[in-house]
Amino acid sequence: MEALSVKGLVKKFRKGLRGGVVYALRGIDLEVEPGEIYGVLGPNGSGKSTLVRIIATLLLPDAGEVRVFGHDVVQEAKAVRELVHRVSTEAAFFKKLSPLENLLYGARLYGIPGRVAARRAREILSQLGFPRDRIGRPMEQLSRGQQQKVAIARAFLHPPRLLLLDEPTTGLDPRSKREVQDLILEIRSRGTTVFLTTHDMDEADRLCDRLAILDEGRIVAEGTPRELKASVSRDGEGATMEDVFLAVTGKEWEGDEGI
Ligand SMILES: Nc1ncnc2c1ncn2[C@@H]1O[C@H](COP(=O)(O)OP(=O)(O)OP(=O)(O)O)[C@@H](O)[C@H]1O
Ligand SMILES: [Mg+2]
Repeated sequence: MEALSVKGLVKKFRKGLRGGVVYALRGIDLEVEPGEIYGVLGPNGSGKSTLVRIIATLLLPDAGEVRVFGHDVVQEAKAVRELVHRVSTEAAFFKKLSPLENLLYGARLYGIPGRVAARRAREILSQLGFPRDRIGRPMEQLSRGQQQKVAIARAFLHPPRLLLLDEPTTGLDPRSKREVQDLILEIRSRGTTVFLTTHDMDEADRLCDRLAILDEGRIVAEGTPRELKASVSRDGEGATMEDVFLAVTGKEWEGDEGI
């Protein structure tokens, strides 16, 4: 059974009071196998977060079907919520509490004993290069990148079957990016399936087993990074993801403008 299956997914939003309509997703089809790291690469506004929110049961589709390990996100939302965990840049925390307290709170919800959780939380934060002297400070005093690392650590403390990462490394410095990417590779090796969005082409290339290129709510290309690059030059030699994007959309890639 697929870890994730998306068929004919359409999502539209009403724009303003007069009722103009924006199509965020215009018919998405994709399948993710258990144990894969599957990436969705797309520019701003292409529909990445909308797709992730629907999989996470936070938004309802207008048409189509989405299943997580066989469970329908609309009909069986509760079952789906037990299998997925979504990390986004707008993660919610208790701002007055420290990273450690926030992580322990999360762990308690999953029934992880406090001592075990504290050890594991420190381990994960240190793997992420999180400064040790900030572990006990209130969240509200941390930089955005540091808060993002805590959000990621929370997902790793209790690895879900399907981990949804909406631009996990956007806004992080190069070294932090690397640390997060290494942790993503590690969590996958422990059996979690990863679905991530990014507009970092090198990240997509380095991390993803397969990826889809999303543009204006449509998948315009899909394959392994190697296949995608090979599609624009004979053997993929010398080709970059930028070349792939240009070839399939006719548009220049705008770069990492989310920062
Ligand atoms: N709640 C909403 N109400 C109205 N329009 C929305 C809403 N959420 C998203 N949209 C629109 O849907 C489209 C896709 O947005 P989405 O946030 O999914 O893109 P994205 O690929 O995640 O972009 P980014 O890279 O900037 O995060 C955009 O045109 C956006 O303006
Ligand atoms: Mg987004």
